[in-house]
Amino acid sequence: MKNILKKIVNRKVGNSEIVEVEQLNPEEEENIFLPIASDALNITEQYNQIVFFYQAGICQLTAKLEILRQEFQACKDRNPIENIETRVKSPENIKGKMERRGFPLTVSSMVKNIMDIAGIRVVCPFISGVYYIAEFLLNQEDIQEIQIKDYIKDPKENGYRSLHLIVMVTVYFSDHKCNVPVEIQLRTIAMEFWATLEHQLRYKKTEIIGNMQKQLKQCADLVTTADYKMQQLADQWL
Ligand code: GTP
Ligand code: MG
Repeated sequence: MKNILKKIVNRKVGNSEIVEVEQLNPEEEENIFLPIASDALNITEQYNQIVFFYQAGICQLTAKLEILRQEFQACKDRNPIENIETRVKSPENIKGKMERRGFPLTVSSMVKNIMDIAGIRVVCPFISGVYYIAEFLLNQEDIQEIQIKDYIKDPKENGYRSLHLIVMVTVYFSDHKCNVPVEIQLRTIAMEFWATLEHQLRYKKTEIIGNMQKQLKQCADLVTTADYKMQQLADQWL
């Protein structure tokens, strides 16, 4: 584990290069995520370590969500979570995003700039559940809020709705604790329905065909109306 989490540096001595483990001060240690043997990012070689590190952040957060889900189940109370999906961004997508945004292709730039390598999507039955889960997570001592984008309050122009959080979660490794960045997307079943179909039809395609965009927005409005109607029923009957 030490090899993974300590900062490794290359130093030139005469004509040869030696590899040294650099002493880190405790403050810095918490923020060092991955080896910097050579800072140049070779995604194919380093990907196992990258996946391991980000997967650990995902595990830490999904454990919290699973416990919450089981607690509600045990109390036979209404469950605020319908489904949880996780993923670690593929090497091609990490590299592609860094190139698109003009970031240097280094490990340190990757950990600093790419906040959605670890991703969790939580689908909730009702809108109230989305905010309940967000608050549940953000109130925990080992979770630090980095960014909140509320596309439920302010939907994207195309009608996309979801609550996006970027958090740092503390993970304990064998001899270190580290803060791992994780993107959490929270949405209702209705939002998930629209986003999944819209993604298939359009997302990240450069060409927008005919009046598809307008019709997608109309569908988003229908789904939004249904979502709020269901929320009213939940408030009244659950
Ligand atoms: P990315 O480079 O895609 O990560 O964009 P960003 O950093 O500006 O983040 P943004 O808040 O726009 O959304 C990030 C993620 O939300 C995407 O990777 C999708 O999973 C989802 N998302 C955002 N907009 C849309 C959309 O219009 N349709 C669908 N289906 N998903 C979306
Ligand atoms: Mg993304």
